[in-house]
Amino acid sequence: MEILVSPDPDRTAERAAEAVLSGLARTHSGDPVLGLATGSSPLGLYRALGRAVDAGRADFGTTHGVALDEYVGLPPGHPEGYRQVLLREVCGVIGLAPERLEVPDGSAAGSAALEAAAAAYEARIAELGGVDVQVLGIGANGHLGFNEPGSALTSRTRVKRLSARTRRDNARFFTGLDDVPTHCLTQGLGTILEARRLVLVATGDGKADAVAAAIEGPLTASVPASVLQWHADTVVCLDEAAAAGLRNRQYYDDSAAGLPEG
Ligand code: GLP
Repeated sequence: MEILVSPDPDRTAERAAEAVLSGLARTHSGDPVLGLATGSSPLGLYRALGRAVDAGRADFGTTHGVALDEYVGLPPGHPEGYRQVLLREVCGVIGLAPERLEVPDGSAAGSAALEAAAAAYEARIAELGGVDVQVLGIGANGHLGFNEPGSALTSRTRVKRLSARTRRDNARFFTGLDDVPTHCLTQGLGTILEARRLVLVATGDGKADAVAAAIEGPLTASVPASVLQWHADTVVCLDEAAAAGLRNRQYYDDSAAGLPEG
């Protein structure tokens, strides 16, 4: 793992954007595939990618976007459904074509239809040639996507129940807790692990415990983000507040400084 700690959220976002662009630059022969997380954590990263586009250093015209997850049961077009969120916060910002945005179909009704939607999503990712770079945030309880504590480390896209903590955390986007969906479709941890590069962004002291557990704790389904330790190309971009619980901080800073001159 590469652990990059920056003084503030803006610099964190810039470094995460560089990790995304360098990961996409060395991709397979097909169109690039960028995995997209929702939440507040990656917003600065998406804006930094937008600035790279404006400066002529990046172009997402042929890129496919693949969402990590989607709520189950929201009416199509609901402003807090992740399709709408990603259209607003990513497509419009980096110039990703809406028709190239893939989101699990959370409007499917009933468990058989949702299982079929999950299988179709896995098939679509495979058809695109897999995800080149997956952007990730981390839940305060250590979740990745909507893989709540207890998620199998090898899990695939499936229906998950949202934890009470996650529903409370996300209630700010809805009129009240009762309006937050109880279930979601999420890429599994095994699905996420197949992306060629993972770029996790976390800022603020509310994430410090989850970050420390994910990076320096044991690999365990109880902290789904600890699965990052299993991936050979993970870049973790943190600000000082989110890095506050790390014990091996000096080593990460030394490593990030690179090889000595000469
Ligand atoms: C949401 C998303 C995750 C996201 C997380 C953290 O519920 N499903 O993909 O990483 O919660 O969100 P935030 O970045 O707003 O703290």
